[in-house]
Amino acid sequence: MNIQSETLSKLNSRGKNPRILGFDELRRDFMELTQQQIEAFDKDGYLFFPELFTPEEVKKLNEAVPQLYDRREAYNVREKGSQAVRTNFAAHLYSAPFARLGRHPRMVKPVEQVFGEKLYMHQFKINGKMAFEGDVWQWHQDYGTWINDDMMPEPRAMNVAIFLDDVNQYNGPLMFIPGSHKRGVLKAGHDLTTTSYPLWTIDNQLIRQLVERAGGRERGIVSPQGPAGSMILFHGCLVHSSTSNLSPWNRVSVYLSLCAVSNHIRRFKRPEYIAHRDFTPIECLPDDCLLTDHPVDLLWGNGMPNSALETSLEKIPA
Ligand code: SIN
Ligand code: MN
Repeated sequence: MNIQSETLSKLNSRGKNPRILGFDELRRDFMELTQQQIEAFDKDGYLFFPELFTPEEVKKLNEAVPQLYDRREAYNVREKGSQAVRTNFAAHLYSAPFARLGRHPRMVKPVEQVFGEKLYMHQFKINGKMAFEGDVWQWHQDYGTWINDDMMPEPRAMNVAIFLDDVNQYNGPLMFIPGSHKRGVLKAGHDLTTTSYPLWTIDNQLIRQLVERAGGRERGIVSPQGPAGSMILFHGCLVHSSTSNLSPWNRVSVYLSLCAVSNHIRRFKRPEYIAHRDFTPIECLPDDCLLTDHPVDLLWGNGMPNSALETSLEKIPA
């Protein structure tokens, strides 16, 4: 699914020369998904948008990462037995560049289109997958956690991955089993030992079957790879994983989950920095917000409130 070539042909059919328009105008044109893309998402469970963000935009984000990773805070989860950050949570609440990314129309608009309603930020992570140190993410579905832990009613939340580094076959790219989202919530076990982060993982026998049914060695597993600035949208039930990063190249990527507002979680079993409790609809910023340093409110700019660590098993009203 190459959105660039789609748009190029759309523009060509309007009699315009895409080369004269330049990339910025092309990118703005990407915000509405075509019928063909919606059908591909429904069938395969993901869409890939290479180079959706420019190198200048990615640079603004990348420059903010080291000082976020340096902080000794609960929201930085480090790899098992290492100081390398595996996941930084909730940067959109205390880092201006990431707050802008969390309200970027190139990411938010297509997801609003898929769900037909406004969205709120359910989760925001910057995954390190650092050179030599980045550990595996076992095979799993995210909606398994959202329903089991957070009581999210339906899988009406979209996973988004935005590459801040080039992603290639060596630095631990995401792997998907195409079409596996059609199977709904699959049986999973809570893995508390393999990595530093607990995950509801799917056993090998079931993965073998799913891959075989998806085409075996012929596209039974796919792995969208590309330059920094590329984006993937993937379904909350799509089975995915990634291997460790033994290469000398970091694979920093932003992963966020945008949930339809009416589908907000019904309990706060996980800390707020992991599963957010503010269901206010996201209002998009202008398309150039990453480069113009558009002003943004940073609710946790003076530190994370202690309440963000509190958890409860009580059910909250719809
Ligand atoms: C995830 O599944 O949440 C992260 C996967 C990855 O970083 O490769
Ligand atoms: Mn996941």
